[in-house]
Amino acid sequence: MAQVNEDYLKLPGSYLFSEIARRVNQFKEENPMADIIRLGIGDVTRPLPTAVVEAMKKAVDEMGQAETFRGYGPEQGYEFLSQTIIDNDFTPRGVKLSPDEVFISDGAKSDTANFQELFGVNNTIAVTDPVYPVYVDTNVMAGRTGFPNELGQFEKLVYLPCTEENGMKPILPQTHVDMIYLCFPNNPSGVTLSKEELKQWVDYARENQSIILFDAAYESFIREENVPHSIFEIEGAREVAVEFRSFSKTAGFTGTRCGYTVVPKEVKVYDAKGEDHSLNSLWLRRQTTKFNGVSYPVQVAAAAVYTEEGQKQVKETIDYYMENARIIREGLEQAGYKVFGGINAPYIWMKTPDNMGSWEFFDKLMKEVNIVGTPGAGFGANGEGYFRLTAFGTRENTVRAIERIKTKM
Ligand code: MLT
Repeated sequence: MAQVNEDYLKLPGSYLFSEIARRVNQFKEENPMADIIRLGIGDVTRPLPTAVVEAMKKAVDEMGQAETFRGYGPEQGYEFLSQTIIDNDFTPRGVKLSPDEVFISDGAKSDTANFQELFGVNNTIAVTDPVYPVYVDTNVMAGRTGFPNELGQFEKLVYLPCTEENGMKPILPQTHVDMIYLCFPNNPSGVTLSKEELKQWVDYARENQSIILFDAAYESFIREENVPHSIFEIEGAREVAVEFRSFSKTAGFTGTRCGYTVVPKEVKVYDAKGEDHSLNSLWLRRQTTKFNGVSYPVQVAAAAVYTEEGQKQVKETIDYYMENARIIREGLEQAGYKVFGGINAPYIWMKTPDNMGSWEFFDKLMKEVNIVGTPGAGFGANGEGYFRLTAFGTRENTVRAIERIKTKM
């Protein structure tokens, strides 16, 4: 008799965005004429930049010719892409990296999900609350969290509440933790940390020999000065942090899949005897064993993001989404809602009216004005009473959605 991994049984029934999709599909079946506007999952609506499409087509042609055909590539990605990433995303910000510290992957979701494998099951983990559910769910699957309480909080996790009182910014753990997941610009709240604020986390990690798993998937939406785009802009971060990046939201790769993870060679983990081991070597070992790399045409396409044309087109796309963010944020404020985010991030985090539960608000919004968002409670106990809207819709739908909320809610 095959035994189940019982840790899976500790998870909520379905992944947050699958549950939302299920509810929306059911509503759509029962109300086929409903004109539903989806501002729930952060999936993009702008097409791939033409520079990216052209590059991908050429790469596909190369794959069709014996002379230029390529089979297995390096599991950690082609150097033409990792070096281009370094030259464009890091060197201009004063961050020095070598290509073997950049691991190309099929996206930040998989990497943030898989990276925990490198750590022992007895590590103490801190997560913000609310939090992107992948960090928690994957640690539950790995047996690191114990059981959930009635609020859905797992007994062995250290939750760092992000509330209206602290401006949605977590305060440092009051006890020792070994691993800390941080996401800035934040999903779901859309808030950012200043360099000084992020430095406190790096200092904490250095003092406590902890590791920060820093999700920077939304860094290209930062508009304000003094907001770090990379944790490696902070002194000392190379010793204690890894960083996850994504082409999904920036360049329209949600369906194409490409991202990367930076693992500096200085970051160390320790065995029971106290001997240190390089996280970079362990991640390479993991990726070469379990992953066969991102396809060549997709890596060529990702490199094209950094061409002059590519940069221009990506900027237009980001400007488009950030204008949506402004429309949502200001529209909600005019309608009397309390909102966070939407300034340096494509997410707007709003307080539900009259302390309504977030799933209740989800149902109300879907049924009464046919708008789909994401209930804050899906991101954690402190998300209860909040609701997330994304700026990734089309302009037309974004304007219509805010009009509906203003006039009909
Ligand atoms: C979100 O809506 O939070 C994201 O799109 C989910 C993801 O990137 O996996």
